Amino acid sequence: MTLSKAFLAQLFGLIIAIGLNPFLPLQNSGLVTLLILQSSGAMFSSLLLRQPRWWLMIHLLFLPSAATLLSIQLSAHWYLLILILLTLVFWGTIKGDVPLFLSSTAVVDAVSQLITKESAQHFAELGAGIGTVSVPLAQQHPQLIINAWERAPLPWAINLLRSRHYPNSHCYRSNLWSCDFNQYDVIFAFLSPAVMPELGAKLKSTMRPGSLLISSSFAIPNWKPESIKQLNDIAKTQLFCYRITEANEQ
Ligand SMILES: C[S@@+](CC[C@H](N)C(=O)[O-])C[C@H]1O[C@@H](n2cnc3c(N)ncnc32)[C@H](O)[C@@H]1O
Repeated sequence: MTLSKAFLAQLFGLIIAIGLNPFLPLQNSGLVTLLILQSSGAMFSSLLLRQPRWWLMIHLLFLPSAATLLSIQLSAHWYLLILILLTLVFWGTIKGDVPLFLSSTAVVDAVSQLITKESAQHFAELGAGIGTVSVPLAQQHPQLIINAWERAPLPWAINLLRSRHYPNSHCYRSNLWSCDFNQYDVIFAFLSPAVMPELGAKLKSTMRPGSLLISSSFAIPNWKPESIKQLNDIAKTQLFCYRITEANEQ
């Protein structure tokens, strides 16, 4: 669905550009004008198709970037290499998985403090990326057993490599939805608003009462956080901390 909408937006942009081109004064009807019309048309169509806002930038830049790259006549091998690398990093994104964004060191410090405060022994990171959070935590808390779940092959491999000196850290190349949430004292997730309702429902029924869920940047709808930590990093990250209660009622 996501991909079909993106394709449609690009196609409508093209139709708009070709349709408007004959009405432009002759001196304005060059390739650059066509590209501006197409990318603005694609952006506008994306809005009408109700794609998430971050798609607007992709539509704005897509055809102009393709035209620029074509003009510098790179060897086709580079495109293949870039495609393979992007696929390995953004593995399930096309099917709706969350893309890779990295947490700041302020997030790591705040999570580290919460782990100490909770006297946690078992910690899970859902969607661990390249280990931006799990690796420093493994170093700072050698007694803490860390399970990092990551589905995309390249970030997982980097995480595995970075964790090799820390026997307390385990990286699983696996879907986070198959994780057994019940065994952890603290779970950390930095995902996306789109998955929060499903994550909340899953955690509500499977996390151990008394355990703590830390969600970076995105709240779980209709859940009342025990606390919200406002961090002073560039993204002004908020950490939503949810205590799982006996009845798992929020
Ligand atoms: C926003 S990034 C966060 C990375 C890391 N946790 C951090 O804070 O720096 C989300 C990560 O979740 C991974 N991911 C998304 N959906 C997943 C799934 N269903 N199972 C496992 N990992 C997933 C993505 O590949 C990506 O690396």
